[in-house]
Amino acid sequence: MNARSLTPLLLLLSISTLLPSSFQNPSTKLYPGSSHRFAETLIRDLNLIPGIQEIDGDSPADDPSSPRLVERKLKLDILGDIGSGISIEELGQHAGYYQLNHTHAAKMFYFFFESRGSSSDPVVLWLTGGPGCSSELALFYENGPFNIADNLSLIWNDYGWDKASNIIYVDQPTGTGFSYSKDIRDLRYNEKGVSNDLYDFLQAFFEAHPKFLKNEFYITGESYAGHYIPAVTERVHRGNKEKEGLQINLKGFAIGNGLTNPSIQYGAYADYAYSMGLIGEAAHKKISKIYPICELGIKLCGSSGVITCFASYVLCNSIFTSILLVAGNINYYDIRKKCEGELCYDFSNMEKFLNQKAVRDSLGVGDRKFVSCNTLVYEALITDWMKNLEVGIPALIEDGIKLLVYAGEYDLICNWLGNFRWVESMEWSGQQAYSAAPMLPFTVDGEESGQLKTFGPLSFLKVYNAGHMVPMDQPKAALAMLKRWTKGSLEYEEHTSLVAEI
Ligand SMILES: *[C@@H]1O[C@H](CO)[C@@H](O)[C@H](O)[C@H]1NC(C)=O
Ligand SMILES: *[C@@H]1O[C@H](CO)[C@@H](O)[C@H](O)[C@H]1NC(C)=O
Repeated sequence: MNARSLTPLLLLLSISTLLPSSFQNPSTKLYPGSSHRFAETLIRDLNLIPGIQEIDGDSPADDPSSPRLVERKLKLDILGDIGSGISIEELGQHAGYYQLNHTHAAKMFYFFFESRGSSSDPVVLWLTGGPGCSSELALFYENGPFNIADNLSLIWNDYGWDKASNIIYVDQPTGTGFSYSKDIRDLRYNEKGVSNDLYDFLQAFFEAHPKFLKNEFYITGESYAGHYIPAVTERVHRGNKEKEGLQINLKGFAIGNGLTNPSIQYGAYADYAYSMGLIGEAAHKKISKIYPICELGIKLCGSSGVITCFASYVLCNSIFTSILLVAGNINYYDIRKKCEGELCYDFSNMEKFLNQKAVRDSLGVGDRKFVSCNTLVYEALITDWMKNLEVGIPALIEDGIKLLVYAGEYDLICNWLGNFRWVESMEWSGQQAYSAAPMLPFTVDGEESGQLKTFGPLSFLKVYNAGHMVPMDQPKAALAMLKRWTKGSLEYEEHTSLVAEI
């Protein structure tokens, strides 16, 4: 590092140390999860970053004769009504491990649920954020085929996304959920590492499921996946263009309450909080004063090394924590609620369910402990946090890959306003037409469930009566959204067909 690049860095670091100590707890996850103490981890974080190099090229597998992808068919007892003519025996529900080929010893865990609708439905990849939180959070509490009852029984979810898609839930990056590696070098520090691993996974997945290769393919997810999703979409598109492996029939990507363009989204925090009455005018004015230095930090993170990224993470998150100090004990994923317990929500049934011996045996996870959110994975990605993932998106939508950005209106942490703003300001050939497009009611079963703005491949949807986890709060609207978006007509309700289905 030279002296010139050091100056703004020192400025950022010195300002961050001047902040009151109560501001210095920026460790809020972009997904419900326990926070860790910032001061304790600061030194560790900085030590973690250099030393461990990215891995390029091949590395030998544990046992070259064992298959890389091991998948088993699940035999789950699910109560209630499956909700279509199909029987559970016919339905393919699977869990598996894939030994990632560009890693030292990483095994990526996933669930794959074939559609309860039709096998020609699109293949959908779902990614939960954190970073470091398991996609099983979405599986069990949002859009999976079933929910967990308090007595740990599984019950069919009438609005599972498997009613309209063949859906894959992946635990990633390595270290998340049931995915693991014995080798610390398999930790991922940036979106390049994350998206290369996911690309390898998808190649192996389609190799094992060739009959789904012709189906349309969509990448979806939530929260910190606002980083992962554009990165992996870009990676798949590039792989297709360069004829690297199997051609994946990539059609679109959808980001739910995501973090994609931090510079714009951190600028929206105080405005959103003020507009929702979480903070008053004086606090809005005061907190807004932190923003210019945060903005500078993010800019430097985009052009220089990891330390400015780390400094901007600290600084910018002081905006968020300042709002929470004024707003009190709110659930920052749903401002209508209080933050109860360490997770802001109670997801303990999932951990109880997944730690049962019979369940583990059927999943093939051995005695590996399931952790909903992994702190080490989170920390490894701290300098990735302030990267702007919007930059690669215009090229994708210009190539006809469609993008849906949706957000529940009561989420603070990845609020709709910040998402609305970055989508609006994105430069692409349709920018003006998109900007001029009206906000239309998004109607589900005759009820207005949100507001939709759309032009060409780009759509933005604000979902009513929902927080951070839209499919959990508005399951029916979320399933309607997925169905209509993949079929190409978000605006219109499907008309009941007069012709009997064969
Ligand atoms: C568990 O709860 C579900 C839903 O409340 C119920 O249908 C089922 O009978 C319960 N099972 C047992 C064994 O109590
Ligand atoms: C990686 O794994 C996939 C699927 O198992 C395989 O088809 C591919 O050839 C592998 N690539 C390399 C570079 O080893």
